[in-house]
Amino acid sequence: MDSILIVGGGVIGLTLARELHKKGVKDITILESGEIGKESSFAAAGMLAPQAEADTGDPFFDFCIESKDLFPTLSSELLDETGIDIELDKSGTLYPAFTRKDIEEIRSRFEWQKAHELEVEHLSANDTHRLEPFISPESLESLFFPNDWQVENRKLLIGLKKYAEIHGIGLIENVTASKLVKTGPKIEHVVASNKNHFGADKIVITAGAWSSLIEFENSSPSFPKVKPIRGQMISFQTAKKLFTRVIYSPRGYIVPRKDGNVLAGATVEDVKFDSKTTDEGIKTLMDSTREISPALSRVPIDKKWAGLRPFTSDGLPIIGALSNADNLFIATAHYRNGILLAPMTAKILADKIVFEKDSKFLKLCDPNRSPNAQTR
Ligand code: GLY
Repeated sequence: MDSILIVGGGVIGLTLARELHKKGVKDITILESGEIGKESSFAAAGMLAPQAEADTGDPFFDFCIESKDLFPTLSSELLDETGIDIELDKSGTLYPAFTRKDIEEIRSRFEWQKAHELEVEHLSANDTHRLEPFISPESLESLFFPNDWQVENRKLLIGLKKYAEIHGIGLIENVTASKLVKTGPKIEHVVASNKNHFGADKIVITAGAWSSLIEFENSSPSFPKVKPIRGQMISFQTAKKLFTRVIYSPRGYIVPRKDGNVLAGATVEDVKFDSKTTDEGIKTLMDSTREISPALSRVPIDKKWAGLRPFTSDGLPIIGALSNADNLFIATAHYRNGILLAPMTAKILADKIVFEKDSKFLKLCDPNRSPNAQTR
């Protein structure tokens, strides 16, 4: 069986490593420029909410739904395999309207989702407040998506890392892959920042927002350019659990965790590789938090952080075999959906790498597509 080198130890690289191992690959190494699982995946909020985010039932929506549906199995398997509970929470997601425009938006979302026979409820203001008493009294009506869930993304990363450790998957931290060197039809080795060379039969780029920084020798990258989009987040430690479910609005979201911690996010900023928080960003988050729940906005901010989402111009992920070398694969550009899409990404890419099996989602996320072919 081939050896596989995975360049990038975020949720995509870790989930892929587990899936490859389950399919019988024994020699797997992950190369990570920082600490395993501590970059963008760690900064995420863990929402598994395709229905709250979608405007149409397109193939990308199907990809999101099918990946979300893999979480119950992933959650129970990881608990058995590692003892880590990833806190899959199926309490649903509430989408309140605060303005006339929001009302139009949620009503049209309700219509298309009903037409697609998706589960969604349209709630009055009274029912909304009964469901979540700490939501703003200004909320007018809402949609409730019982099948939009959340997961504790940091526990997911801890569980996936533990799986790798238990099964002898190599984890190399604080080493950046700088260059892929091609000899004949294959990438022969990766040159790393510490000048070491890492070779493997097959190489997979899962470097998220950093994927397009990797240089190529004797070939050119054959995938659309990926750039970072910053998301700032804050959290509040509440004395008791104020909310039961994720609350998502057109201007922000809050994610209540099992331990009383409530996350609020997120900004969407094109600021290159700057992953710091800013006063302006925190103010934007406080404004959207206040709109959703004035009660929550009166709790002092406990923590602030930011992460860099990997984005490409048509908004779709890039997943599959690359055309510039026979042994090179990629899974990146998951943008706002890295946690959500990790299980299905790992499944389809592992099937491709190990069994050369194609799928409709690999076709959708084809790295060789023209960058402007499809815009979401
Ligand atoms: N998935 C939520 C975000 O990117 O902010």
